[in-house]
Amino acid sequence: MVEILTKPMNKHRKGILLAGGSGSRLYPLTVHTSKQLMPVYDKPLVYYPLSVLMLAGLKEILLISTPKDLPSYQKLLGDGSTWGLSIEYAEQPSPDGLAQALVIAEDFLAGHPSCLILGDNIFYGHAFTSSLQQANLNEEGATIFGYHVSNPSAYGVVEFSSDGKVVGLVEKPAQPASEYAVPGLYFYDERAPAFAQTLSPSPRGELEITDLNRCYLTEGSLRVELIGRGTAWLDTGTHDSLLDAGNFIQLVEKRQGLKIACLEEIALGKGWIDKNQLSQHVSSLGQSSYRHYLENLLQSPAHFLNQSPS
Ligand code: DAU
Repeated sequence: MVEILTKPMNKHRKGILLAGGSGSRLYPLTVHTSKQLMPVYDKPLVYYPLSVLMLAGLKEILLISTPKDLPSYQKLLGDGSTWGLSIEYAEQPSPDGLAQALVIAEDFLAGHPSCLILGDNIFYGHAFTSSLQQANLNEEGATIFGYHVSNPSAYGVVEFSSDGKVVGLVEKPAQPASEYAVPGLYFYDERAPAFAQTLSPSPRGELEITDLNRCYLTEGSLRVELIGRGTAWLDTGTHDSLLDAGNFIQLVEKRQGLKIACLEEIALGKGWIDKNQLSQHVSSLGQSSYRHYLENLLQSPAHFLNQSPS
């Protein structure tokens, strides 16, 4: 794994974290707060997709949200230097579709390949980190994922031919052609903003991410990596699924004594921050159990880092 990670890319990939939308399915929780700032056990929801970008090795990130909510993200995450990142911000004035993120990010990307993650998607699994790092190495075309779910109609769905080739992608089909949903995590080459510019709004008035992915499928440059059952992909779109996600994180964290999506731990493991930077940051974390976790990490980093997928 280390060998392939050191293979140089033409241009490094940049991350896009889309955290806009109205969040109306979670009202009244989200009347005054962004959905992606909702608590998932011990940290804001946005930490989880941000940790995925970090685990993929991406340090330059554009966070896109609504004009109303952007200041809250800036307050929470700042310029990203706490975690050795560079975080920039951009507005999406109205929720005109996921693919619009690529249009908004065009200047930020400046010809670099990208990884778009939805701010309400949670992933957890050891093998998943290798999948991320592998997807990051694919310089041409796009890589998306397929995940077996019990309710594919709620998602973009992959259609396979009888010999297992991907032949179609359909957004929220009434009659899904498979049980494989497409999670909100997409790796694109540098052409994604240009492809996104060519899209027209769907009947529901949005620039659909599935239409963007279909551009790559049509030209034969789309890879669909199936995520195995050892990885959890959690939805947070309803009150129940948000609570389920919090309970899942609590269960695993309490059982292992290790945190999921601890940004500081990932940054330290990657050498993006050092112990001095971490100890300065720790004092800003009140008297939370999160702070105590980081204090333990500072005392015995080797123990933690051996246990975490970095
Ligand atoms: O979660 C994976 C699914 O995400 C994919 O399988 C689907 O193909 C994809 O269309 C999307 O489906 P959703 O129904 O979950 O999309 P939703 O409209 O709920 O938006 C997902 C998140 O992105 C949500 O937190 C709000 C945010 N969002 C949404 C839109 C339309 C934005 O930030 N801007 C937007 O314009």
